[in-house]
Amino acid sequence: MRAMAKTRVTFLCRSCGSTQPRWLGKCPDCGTWDSLEKYVPPAEDAPDAVGAVAQWGSFGGGQPGDNPGAATSALPLAEVSTREVPRIASAVGELDRVLGGGFVPGSAILLGGDPGIGKSTLLLQAAARVADGGTPVLYVSSEESVQQVKLRAERVLADDDAARSERATRLFVLSETNLARITEQARRVKPALLVVDSIQMLWTSGVEAAPGSATQLRRACLDLVTLAKSMGIVVAVVGHVTKEGEIAGPKLLEHLVDVVLQFEGDRQHAHRVVRAIKNRFGSTHEIGLFEMTGGGLAEVREGSLALPASASLPGIAFVPSIAGSRCLIAEVQALTASGFLGNAKRRASGLDTNRLAMLIAVLEKHAGLRLADQDVFAQVAGGIRVIEPAADLAIALAIAGAHYGRVLPAQSAVLGELGLTGEIRPVRSIEQRVAEVVRRGGRTIVVPAGQEDSARAAAQIVGVDRVSVLSASTISRAVELLEVGRSDDASTSRRPRARS
Ligand code: TYD
Ligand code: MG
Repeated sequence: MRAMAKTRVTFLCRSCGSTQPRWLGKCPDCGTWDSLEKYVPPAEDAPDAVGAVAQWGSFGGGQPGDNPGAATSALPLAEVSTREVPRIASAVGELDRVLGGGFVPGSAILLGGDPGIGKSTLLLQAAARVADGGTPVLYVSSEESVQQVKLRAERVLADDDAARSERATRLFVLSETNLARITEQARRVKPALLVVDSIQMLWTSGVEAAPGSATQLRRACLDLVTLAKSMGIVVAVVGHVTKEGEIAGPKLLEHLVDVVLQFEGDRQHAHRVVRAIKNRFGSTHEIGLFEMTGGGLAEVREGSLALPASASLPGIAFVPSIAGSRCLIAEVQALTASGFLGNAKRRASGLDTNRLAMLIAVLEKHAGLRLADQDVFAQVAGGIRVIEPAADLAIALAIAGAHYGRVLPAQSAVLGELGLTGEIRPVRSIEQRVAEVVRRGGRTIVVPAGQEDSARAAAQIVGVDRVSVLSASTISRAVELLEVGRSDDASTSRRPRARS
């Protein structure tokens, strides 16, 4: 049944998704200028074809529009079943980690990221792996032709032929921008996972707005979310990132979906990070690490970044950095070069520039380094970002090492937060970090004074006792460790000695 909808016109904010009864130059809710556009909300009591089928169709016999209330009724809490629906593992381990253990049937996921970062590649790989698991998967591209999708698939999914032919019958591809036709195909294929790449190009007939406009985006997203819930399938939607770095139609879509993932990375570097901004079914602290290779995205497993066995170089320090439940060994590099007094440069990449300036000040004031006429550059190798205070000491020692031409002991890692008074403060999760260093072949670890016992205990648990634990309570003591190399007792001499 299709009731005559009253055409009630409101105005929808492109930025925050609020609706206003009349047009205004500035959204009263979020304060963005010129963000309101005309919006005809789909009438609640008369959902149109797509909405109606999606919403009530699966309840079997339910008559769309007639009596929607009959489909659901209030239940006492005690009668609500908490039987856990098994998750669908994408078998892309790093993606599953971010999702909290796999896709949850009946959920909608939004994946955002800059153009060319690898969103299509990631979802195609996940789609293929889910299809390998024996369930049909529908990959809808609104931007590319099915031939283009196939070419990409051939490049990315170089597996043995047997698996490929099996998969080829279960992985369905569709090049389509009309939402109604996508829904229809989804009902025909009955996939466990529906990928829509991307939502920007979708349009619904009857909505008088251009594809990509807030009205179309919101409508398409609502319909896809409803489809996910009604069919009990996973819908993964790609959204582009706007100039301001927010996912298309900023908060507009984020409210509607269950999980929002952000694909980040520096296009100059191979490493890519997937992060959950919102996750109704898991933590948002987890990250997934990938590397873009000639054959698609490769997972970077925990611990694949080992400490080099060769002797350390001046200006390099390793720090075990925590992101979510995982610990990554990051390589901090620093370089000092003659600059101009009063106009020395301080540049950081992958690190917080303000923190770098602070660390330089602490080194000058409390460790006797003269850096006022030195340009200081610091970075994290490999395009990873390390923004946590536990990396302070590693950055400071990398700078001091670069300045004096001294090294840290081979296969060492450094941990500690620096205070403005030059004292080294304890870091959280010391056990996990030490264990990771040891697992990666670390032999020496520098920790804040007071945390030696925890560090030794953690090293022991991993089953190694050849790890030497050095500690320092102040930055000046820590800089001395650079001079004395492997010895456990810090030397009293502080005069820098050129490395021979
Ligand atoms: P793509 O997944 O198309 O990005 P998005 O969907 O986020 O726009 O990936 C784009 C880039 O990745 C492209 O510049 C080429 C590169 N790439 C590889 O390096 N190796 C590969 O196997 C594939 C498929 C892409
Ligand atoms: Mg793409």
